[in-house]
Amino acid sequence: MNVIRFSDLCAQGQVAGKRVFIRADLNVPQDDAGNISEDTRVRASVPCIQMALDAGAAVMVTSHLGRPTEGEFKPADSLAPVAKRMGELMGREIPVIANWTDGVEVKPGQLVMLENCRVNKGEKKNDEALAKKMAALCDIFVHDAFGTAHRAEASTYGIAQFAPVACAGPLLAAEMDAISKALLAPKRPLVAIVAGSKVSTKLTILKSLAENVDQLIVGGGIANTFMLAADLKIGKSLAEADLLDQAKAVIEAMKARGAAVPIPTDVVTAKTFSADAVATVKAATDVADDDLILDIGPQTAQALADQLKKAGTIVWNGPVGVFEFAAFENGTKVIAQAIADSSAFSIAGGGDTLAAIAKYGIEKQVGYISTGGGAFLEVLEGKTLPAFEILGKRALG
Ligand code: 3PG
Repeated sequence: MNVIRFSDLCAQGQVAGKRVFIRADLNVPQDDAGNISEDTRVRASVPCIQMALDAGAAVMVTSHLGRPTEGEFKPADSLAPVAKRMGELMGREIPVIANWTDGVEVKPGQLVMLENCRVNKGEKKNDEALAKKMAALCDIFVHDAFGTAHRAEASTYGIAQFAPVACAGPLLAAEMDAISKALLAPKRPLVAIVAGSKVSTKLTILKSLAENVDQLIVGGGIANTFMLAADLKIGKSLAEADLLDQAKAVIEAMKARGAAVPIPTDVVTAKTFSADAVATVKAATDVADDDLILDIGPQTAQALADQLKKAGTIVWNGPVGVFEFAAFENGTKVIAQAIADSSAFSIAGGGDTLAAIAKYGIEKQVGYISTGGGAFLEVLEGKTLPAFEILGKRALG
């Protein structure tokens, strides 16, 4: 995708003395006291801000936090805890500016954080007047919020239309490059792992990937529906009988291309869904009426691991079993280790996937870990995200 990259503007000396407006995604989880419980997105946003400061810009950064009611700012909506955390990471005080749409005082070398942009009236609906006001605050707009790249809001899309220059920050560019490498020009075989509780929430992803990947590994409740489609019994496991035809269509589409959806040959079952339930490994053909399938079996896990080790590219979204419970974590653990050991370029995204990556400590062995939740899923659905669309247009002049 052809977009203007902020790093290029910095390298070309086009940023010194300029007013730079950075849209980051600092939408982080917080505990009841407002403390940040997971700061990956704050850390991931620092390089762009530092790049702008190093280039001599006057820097404004903003983000949404949560889903506040527009026009009704509440203390819990404030980016103040984020500014504090970012200040610690950057070793400087970061003032938070409220009511900023009519003007912001900031000098070259300074950094300010503009209060939660979703509190501004018209933000969600990409109001043109609001977007124009934001665009008037800056010389250069930098979109660095991959996690919000699937939203067309005033601070992500409208401002990119009207700012004098609109470009991609280093995080957005890195996500874009990793996605292109994995899905547009993948080294083959391309193996995707799509797991989760319901086929319905990931049907578009499954259909889109079925046209591109060489192996489509399904896991979790999704695999149960595919097992049903393959005429296997799944007992009382979670599945969506009304989507059997869709699952069959995915299997057929893959087959027609000489590709495959591997169906588990063995599974780990329990009689109840609980951490202390007795786990039983059995053949996929032996599932009893009162069984719940909570993980893939060791034989299936090993077979998938062997395929992952031979892959050229791996896309991972979703754990294949109830990995939060020790008795049902083996499948996800084996898959995680196989991804770590594989020489394939791997890209992973989605909340549960990141939790599994952290649990098995394989962060450094995954090629790229996406900061996007919904945005990553929409990429897998084959959609062009609004952020890439508008930045692509602006790169054309
Ligand atoms: C996310 O957490 O996925 C992004 O920050 C987007 O948030 P949203 O779903 O509230 O737009």
